[in-house]
Amino acid sequence: HNLSELNAELKKITETYPHISALSEIGHSLEGRPLYVVRISAVPKEQEHPPAILFLGTHHAREHLSTEVPLFLIKHLVENYGKNEEITAFVNNKEIWIMPMVNPDGADYDVQDSPYKWWRKNRRGENGTTFGVDLNRNYGFKWGGEGSSDWRYSQTYRGTEPFSEPETQAIKAFVESHKNISIILSYHSFSELILYPWGHTYDSIEDDKALHVHEIMAQEMGRMTGYTPQQSSDLYITTGDTTDWAFGEHGIISFTIELYPATLGDGGFYPSASQIQPVVNKNIPAALYLIQYADNPYRVLRESHHRLAAPKMMF
Ligand code: ARG
Ligand code: ZN
Repeated sequence: HNLSELNAELKKITETYPHISALSEIGHSLEGRPLYVVRISAVPKEQEHPPAILFLGTHHAREHLSTEVPLFLIKHLVENYGKNEEITAFVNNKEIWIMPMVNPDGADYDVQDSPYKWWRKNRRGENGTTFGVDLNRNYGFKWGGEGSSDWRYSQTYRGTEPFSEPETQAIKAFVESHKNISIILSYHSFSELILYPWGHTYDSIEDDKALHVHEIMAQEMGRMTGYTPQQSSDLYITTGDTTDWAFGEHGIISFTIELYPATLGDGGFYPSASQIQPVVNKNIPAALYLIQYADNPYRVLRESHHRLAAPKMMF
């Protein structure tokens, strides 16, 4: 789905299932495009806030599978409501927020002509030149450190200040005004990894319980997808990403999933469209698994029989 196909789908779905889904704008991109989030819940909006979870896709323009997975998650939830017992219960008791497109300007630009542009950032520019800000370096926790750049043309340009970009500002305001959000999952591609904080340091999360929740959930989602669970910084150190901010600033249990493929040689950012369905199929169970714990992710400590990673040995 390109941007206009995506937006048409979101409208169609929410018009078809108005009792359990709604489309809202949480802001506008730099170039003025609406930033859409879909709320899936049978709980009336005015009512007391049920447990909530947030899924994000496409911070990075060229990572097109990270649009498809959250879009198909929306479809899966609305189409199985009233048919599948588990999904019906989730939708009846929880608030599931899904934003498949964080970076509409970049994503639209990326596929404007062929060959595709390999564009990553948003479309920030000045005096007729466009350099772009890396939206996944623009969040306000430990902003400005290692793994981000102050050079405009760098792929990891962090912007002039934390939350300088309207796209990250919209997510900040959204999260701050939805205190019931307990879990965030941000989709990226590619590498087939399940990442959890910290990304800004090789140190583990200090709070043992929070660390174990992340480890157990990442391990379980790893089992479901075949992807490798690991701490974000084991991929590389970054500062200003979504998940470090969500956990560091708000204590929200948070993950980044790097989708298919494992390597550049297997299709990189532009895998064949025939991969969409298999990737969606293995990622939906992982998403449902997280939704299940939105009421209290720490429940997993009691209920999981999975073995934790051995503590790091000190010499
Ligand atoms: N690959 C993504 C990015 O570069 C995710 C980064 C996750 N955080 C990390 N510290 N590795 O934005
Ligand atoms: Zn990415």
